[in-house]
Formats: sequence, structure tokens, C-alpha cells
Amino acid sequence: MTSYTRPIIAPSILAADFSKLGEDIAATSNADWIHVDIMDGHFVPNLSFGADITKAAGRCTDKELDVHLMIEHPEKWVDNYIDAGAACVVFHVEATNDPVSLARYLKGKGVRAGFSLRPGTPIEDYLDIVPEFDLVLVMSVEPGFGGQSFMPEQLEKVRTLRALIDEKQLECFIEIDGGINATTIRQAAEAGCDAFVAGSAVYGATDPAAAVDELRALATLN
Ligand code: DX5
Ligand code: ZN
Repeated sequence: MTSYTRPIIAPSILAADFSKLGEDIAATSNADWIHVDIMDGHFVPNLSFGADITKAAGRCTDKELDVHLMIEHPEKWVDNYIDAGAACVVFHVEATNDPVSLARYLKGKGVRAGFSLRPGTPIEDYLDIVPEFDLVLVMSVEPGFGGQSFMPEQLEKVRTLRALIDEKQLECFIEIDGGINATTIRQAAEAGCDAFVAGSAVYGATDPAAAVDELRALATLN
């Protein structure tokens, strides 16, 4: 894990043009990870796509797939995403009763384990499980849709996590997701994020690769 160069930029293909998904993914070959948003229409009020499209996305890139499960009962579905080629599987703590067992299961299968939490879920309730995880994904919008406005107050969670991870010297990424663009990414970097998901700011740009480079430059702290 220490071999990763920060900042990590992870374009979200939720904002890609699905009629030319392969081309859009190829247009961001300078990204670090490809973020894959899975929505089931129950945990969030929107449907996206599933494991087959995830697998197809993986065939279009040599980048790691960062799979964000916004679904109920993630434990029933994780194998599909491991088989589809996920390098990291992130599930929501609100969606499962036993996040630690699921983290151990994922790591036993050779993928990174991440948990995410909705904006209204306090991080304090989950600080004790952070050492079990490779990544914590802080949502800076209400999960379910791309193109929403960044919620700066969520950075308090990032600061809390940064202090814990540094103090205990944990190997755990802090990732942020929602409303990340050229205006907001710097404050997220300063709060302590390692990885940055951006959907509309990348695939909505005329030049997605240039958008990735710009975001990386803005998130690079001296
Ligand atoms: C929202 C998703 C995000 C989304 C981000 O539920 O988890 O990954 O695609 O989109 P933007 O960057 O447009 O806010
Ligand atoms: Zn996401």
C-alpha cells in the first residue's frame, strides 16, 4: 500500500457516456483508479449497473477498479464484484450488521476492504473498526447521484480520520466522494484525503485527461 503515490485520482464512470464507456475510460488513462458506483435502487434511490458492466469496464483499463457498493446486504454480492475484477470493494456501514467480518472476508480474498458512510452517519461510531480496513470513503454528497454540490462540513470526518490514522500509523486510505472538482479538491486534500473521486468534473470536461491532471495538481500539497 505504501507504494501508492498520493494524491490518487479516481474518476467515477457514473458520469461517463455509457454508449462509449470503453472510450471514456481510455480517455482517463492518466488516472490512478477507476471508481465504479453500484446502486441498487434500495439503499439509494437510483440504479446504476452491476457486476457485468464492472467486468467490462475492467477490460478497458489496466487501472485498479475501486468499487463503491451503494447496496443493501453487500455481503450477498461482494463475490460478484471480486470476480468482476475489483481491487477494492467499499460497502456502506449502514447496509450491514457486521462490517468487520465483511472486511476480513474481502481481505482474505485478496482485495482491499473499504467502508463508507452517509453524510448523516457519525464517524465517531466507527473509529474502532478503522484498523480492520484498507480504506475509508467519506461521502461529501448524499449517495445516489452524480453532479451534486460538495458538503464542506464532511471534511471534519476526514480530519478526525487523519488524526487517528497518523496517530496509530495505520495503513488506511482516506477517500472522498461527491462534488469534487477544481474548486473543492484542495480543501479536501488539506483536510487529509489521499484519494479523490470525481465524476462530472472529469467525464463532463471537454478534455477528461486534462481534468485529471488539473485535479491531481490541485490536490498535491507541498
Ligand atoms: C454518488 C457517487 C459518486 C458520484 C460522484 O453517489 O458515489 O461517486 O459518481 O459524482 P460527482 O463527482 O459528479 O459528484
Ligand atoms: Zn462513489
